[in-house]
Amino acid sequence: MCGIFAYMNYRVPRTRKEIFETLIKGLQRLEYRGYDSAGVAIDGNNNEVKERHIQLVKKRGNVKALDEELYKQDSMDLKVEFETHFGIAHTRWATHGVPNAVNSHPQRSDKGNEFVVIHNGIITNYKDLRKFLESKGYEFESETDTETIAKLIKYVFDNRETEDVTFSALVERVIQQLEGAFALVFKSIHYPGEAVATRRGSPLLIGVRSKYKLSTEQIPVLYRTRNIENVKNICKTRMKRLDSSTCLHAVGNKAVEFFFASDASAIIEHTNRVIFLEDDDIAAVADGKLSIHRVKRLASDDPSRAIQTLQMELQQIMKGNFSAFMQKEIFEQPESVFNTMRGRVNFETNTVLLGGLKDHLKEIRRCRRLIVIGCGTSYHAAVATRQVLEELTELPVMVELASDFLDRNTPVFRDDVCFFISQSGETADTLLALRYCKDRRALTVGITNTVGSSISRETDCGVHINAGPEIGVASTKVGATWAPTGGPLLGGEQRGALEGSPGICLILSGHHMHIAPVLLAPLFCPQAYTSQFISLVMFGLMMSEDRISLQNRRREIIHGLKSLPELIKEVLSLDEKIHDLALELYTQRSLLVMGRGYNYATCLEGALKIKEITYMHSEGILAGELKHGPLALIDKQMPVIMVIMKDPCFAKCQNALQQVTARQGRPIILCSKDDTESSKFAYKTIELPHTVDCLQGILSVIPLQLLSFHLAVLRGYDVDFPRNLAKSVTVE
Ligand code: F6R
Repeated sequence: MCGIFAYMNYRVPRTRKEIFETLIKGLQRLEYRGYDSAGVAIDGNNNEVKERHIQLVKKRGNVKALDEELYKQDSMDLKVEFETHFGIAHTRWATHGVPNAVNSHPQRSDKGNEFVVIHNGIITNYKDLRKFLESKGYEFESETDTETIAKLIKYVFDNRETEDVTFSALVERVIQQLEGAFALVFKSIHYPGEAVATRRGSPLLIGVRSKYKLSTEQIPVLYRTRNIENVKNICKTRMKRLDSSTCLHAVGNKAVEFFFASDASAIIEHTNRVIFLEDDDIAAVADGKLSIHRVKRLASDDPSRAIQTLQMELQQIMKGNFSAFMQKEIFEQPESVFNTMRGRVNFETNTVLLGGLKDHLKEIRRCRRLIVIGCGTSYHAAVATRQVLEELTELPVMVELASDFLDRNTPVFRDDVCFFISQSGETADTLLALRYCKDRRALTVGITNTVGSSISRETDCGVHINAGPEIGVASTKVGATWAPTGGPLLGGEQRGALEGSPGICLILSGHHMHIAPVLLAPLFCPQAYTSQFISLVMFGLMMSEDRISLQNRRREIIHGLKSLPELIKEVLSLDEKIHDLALELYTQRSLLVMGRGYNYATCLEGALKIKEITYMHSEGILAGELKHGPLALIDKQMPVIMVIMKDPCFAKCQNALQQVTARQGRPIILCSKDDTESSKFAYKTIELPHTVDCLQGILSVIPLQLLSFHLAVLRGYDVDFPRNLAKSVTVE
């Protein structure tokens, strides 16, 4: 997930410094979407068309690093004034290619920067397009999918049949060749003072500001008639300029500013007048007029795009319709699990390809055992998938808490393969365990959500879980006494939140400490857990591809993966029922969560969530251990949640259920929809849709995420500002 921001001032004079400031501020608002590098493209010289060139400035690191870099550019006079100018900017969260300046955006068509583009999303057919373009002599400099787009538009331009082809027509031809998801904004030296933006699957909106009355509140959508099917023919259709009477512009064509962004948080401080683009809309600004067109008209199409007035505050925009970031993250899981699988699981051929592991697969298949290491939630993801990994890899699998693994000086051999699961990629215990295993020459594999993090850099190979950035890249958790526990942070900085001072972050950089405003966000990573879970299952599937005996099982699991986003939505629709349950439970001191087999990890993770944000005592109990001690806790008063699914442990779970009810326990049961047996003994039931046994844990954890959220709110706690713990968003 990257952030896109672009700014056009049309007949509104702005100095280069003011333009920089607007672009940087826009990027800072989007930095929560993740950053590992950032860049801008602006006009290099004054407005003289002959000397026009586009200046690119790109920098690894956060937006602040880019900001500093901008002011170091000797060639750029900050006082120069532009009556009309279009600047584009981007903050990147790497998906293809390591974070560095070359891979960061804007990407360019050629060394002369004739076309530059910023992109949020993933182009799944970029390899084919790249091959085609290379065969035509285009030379690539980055490892990104985005560079293909920049080269493709130049190819279309270089091969145009007529001189008067419009900028938007070029973009139209380009996007007809793209597969995957994108929001794109283009700038070109051939179209000075013009902008084109488009999207499919990734959000994009345009803000409009003018002190003059706008000519329209509804922009009619225009249509082209010809669909270009083949990349070889994309230069062959003629495009005319759109009729300006159908465009949005300030009356009298006087002065107007346009802001393009991935979300409204970057626009709202400039204007609350916005247009949300729909998939496949192509929005173009030329001569200060905005027009929108599409290639094909669909029956369901709305014939116009309204300029809407946003009534929301910045905080609200970032949280959407949710009352807390944590709630938003829980509800975004249908998309985040899809993103984890996107481009990796082929549901037609029942195959899985994890690009980061494919070169090491032979070695992994030959190993003595797999050791999967993590902390907290990441460890739970390992527990959740252990059984299916053993089944699919036919290897012994050890799961380890990083701290304990180190305390024990666990024997590790060079023919072991060690996995390090970490959302942030920076957790000190996990990182130390990684170094320990490297010293013993084991092959190391990272499963992280942060490209460029220490764990992803130091492992031999790995998988990026693509869960979207958590707000707060470094996963630092510190107490009020300023005691960082999160291990090495990006850029050598240490950050921590001040307890009781939400919105304030301490930043320790070198010898300097300063206070900066931040948005604090949950550290609960609901999305990270489900995406780590899926990444490990995908690894198992990739390992078992040529095992004849496992083909039916693989098909069953892949089929299960496909339907997960829909089933997660079904579980999320139980929210109200779970809220009612929370109403009954929120005054309790303790809550036990019990289960076994594939759902034991759900109990551990659910109990951790409850502890963390509700401050109730909660324990995840293996149901098989009940009779060995925990049964003593059961009575009429003790709230117990039991996870009982229709899987191979069903009968054994029934035994545990009997043991609980025999002690007057009143279990709340998370069970399958068709389970009449368990519900007979339940005090309450939450019925979940059924999926394949080894994936059921993804569905069963969601009610517990929701329950912890509601319990915390009812107990009067702010889930986004948990006591003693905080994760800071680094908007310095
Ligand atoms: C729980 C939580 C922690 C982390 C743990 C490991 O909600 O956030 O338990 O899971 O600190 O962090 P990562 O995954 O970043 O290594």
